Formats: sequence, structure tokens, C-alpha cells
Amino acid sequence: MKEIVLKTNTQKSVIYCGSGAFEKYAHTEGDLFVVTDSNVYSLYSGLIEKTFSGAAVKVIRAGEKSKNSRTLFSILQAMASAGLKRGGTVVAFGGGVVGDIAGLAASLYMRGTHLVQIPTTLLSQVDSSVGGKTAIDFKKVKNLIGTFYQPEKVIVDPMFLKTLPDREINCGLGEIIKYGALDKEIYKKLQNADDLKNFEFLENVTADCIQHKANVVLIDEHDLNGTRKTLNLGHTTGHAFELYYGKKSHGEYVLIGTFYELYIAKKLGLCEENYAQTLINMITAVIGTIPVYGDVRKAAAYAVYDKKNDGGQISVIAPKCVGESVEIKLSIQDYLSYIEECNGFLKGKYENS
Ligand code: GLY
Repeated sequence: MKEIVLKTNTQKSVIYCGSGAFEKYAHTEGDLFVVTDSNVYSLYSGLIEKTFSGAAVKVIRAGEKSKNSRTLFSILQAMASAGLKRGGTVVAFGGGVVGDIAGLAASLYMRGTHLVQIPTTLLSQVDSSVGGKTAIDFKKVKNLIGTFYQPEKVIVDPMFLKTLPDREINCGLGEIIKYGALDKEIYKKLQNADDLKNFEFLENVTADCIQHKANVVLIDEHDLNGTRKTLNLGHTTGHAFELYYGKKSHGEYVLIGTFYELYIAKKLGLCEENYAQTLINMITAVIGTIPVYGDVRKAAAYAVYDKKNDGGQISVIAPKCVGESVEIKLSIQDYLSYIEECNGFLKGKYENS
């Protein structure tokens, strides 16, 4: 079991990571309010009731579509009806959507309650439960409304991965490969892994990703100096495709986005060829072939709404070499042309194979 401490100006977060973390650390004293989703509740209602006995429980509908203002206000309403006090604790028990929206509700209710994150998906364990970003989607923009609000505890227990469908594992691997592109040690582990989906390997690499993220958040908690932006590698195009096509999971779109953004980085002479190929091999080992899209220009145009953009330009985090990436800013026209060209490249590749 690893204990990672992230001490920012606003909070000391302790992240307990490894087998047995839930049993040892989930119990929380005081007035509790649990937020979970319909999928997680159907699997773990007994565990929730046993661990947080007497707590009010709000179950939201599973899926990204719940990350909206209506669901947020229904959570706040339930907190008020349950008589939750300011000194109470919100427990976010679920995947990324639950963590984001429950974290936002915790930061707003009475100007802030205590918060515990218990991520149950691989994606939320490696990335979204740590670092204090909370959000809902609004006006077709992902995470447009949100706060920075650090949890006091994050409990990352691999036992929850056992009930995850394979696609959810792929989704988390999308973020893990992103960390591989940002961190030399994680990259080496990914390169040497016989099976990326092996549970022991996932438990081990999850702690490394969390440590990387904690180091980044320590330097740039509020996403102001460019350091935290690197965590958005693959996300500019990934988010745009996710918004437009919406059929795959977030992590799968991150991998597809990383492929497109590697193509741009290579075209601009920024990314070493062998390194790009190794990352592409990792991506395809997880999601198979990269899809060829119709309407790709329209889909990519959603990148205009990305929060990283500045001055009408599209911001892309380009991988350069092992452990190094750089932010590039492209005009909308150039960005769309590269995306179209990459899609054309994929089309040619599959038609000729
Ligand atoms: N998931 C990116 C971040 O937390 O900054």
C-alpha cells in the first residue's frame, strides 16, 4: 500500500493506494453524505450501507450525461433535505462523473464541506480523483463550470477494478498511456509490460501515475503556469471527438486524440519517430485500429471550445521525446487541416492494407 501526500496551500490530501485501502481507510466519522451512480450502487449498495451506516445516499444516473446543472442541483437539494452541516463530509463513491459532480457540490454547499473521493474506475483512480478539479459540462463544453477543491482523503483500491467491463479498463489505460508519454519511469514500465491489463501491473502503475500527478499539482494546483496543462495531452482532439461522436469512452477518445496529436507533432518535426511509433503501438494494443471518421473537420471544430485555448488559437500538448512534451498553438485552419490530413492518412493506410 502506498500513501501519497499532496499538501497544497488549501488542503492536505492523503491518497491511500493499493489493495486493502478501502477496508482500512474508508471509514469516516461524522455527518456523511454519499454520492454514487446507478451502476455502482447496484454493485456496492451493501458495502456503502455497511461502511457509511446512517449516511444519506444520493444515486445519480450513470454516464457523462449526468454531469449537468440539473443533476448538480438535485445533489445540492438532497444535501439540504438531509440536513447536511458544513462540518459534514461528502463521499464521492464512483467513477469520474461522480467524483467531478460530487466534488463540485461539496465545494458549493455551505461554501464547502469536507470531501472524500473513493474512485471505482481505473480512469478515476489514475487521474480524475486526484488534484481537486471538479466540474460539470455546460453549453456543449466539457467541464465548463467547476472549482478547484481538494479532497481530504482519496482511497484508491484495486478491488473495484474486478467488476469493471473491459472497455472501462481501456478507458483508464488511455490516461495511463498519457502518463507514460509524460514520465520516463512510467514509459519504461509500459514498454516492459507483458500485459497492460494485468491487475498487479495496473495497481503498481496507478500509484506511479498518481505520484506524477501529485508532483504536477503541487507546482501548479490552479492550472496557471503551464505545468498542469501537460496533463491534457491527447485531450484537445480527444474532447472534441468525444463531444461530436460520443460513442466511445473518454479514455478511448484520449488515445485517439493522442494519435492525432502525435501526427501533428511529427508533421511539425517536434516528435522523434521511434518514440512516436512506440506510443502508437501502445495505443493500438489497447484500442485496436484507430477509427477513420466521416465529418472529421466538423468534429475537430469542437476543439475551438477547449478551455486551454488562448487568443483564438488551438492549444495542443505535443509529445516530443520520452518524458518531454511541449504546448503548441495552432490557428484553427491549420489545426483542422492537420486533423483532416491525419484522417486521410488513416483511410489510405486501411484501404491499402
Ligand atoms: N485531468 C487533468 C487535470 O487534473 O489537470
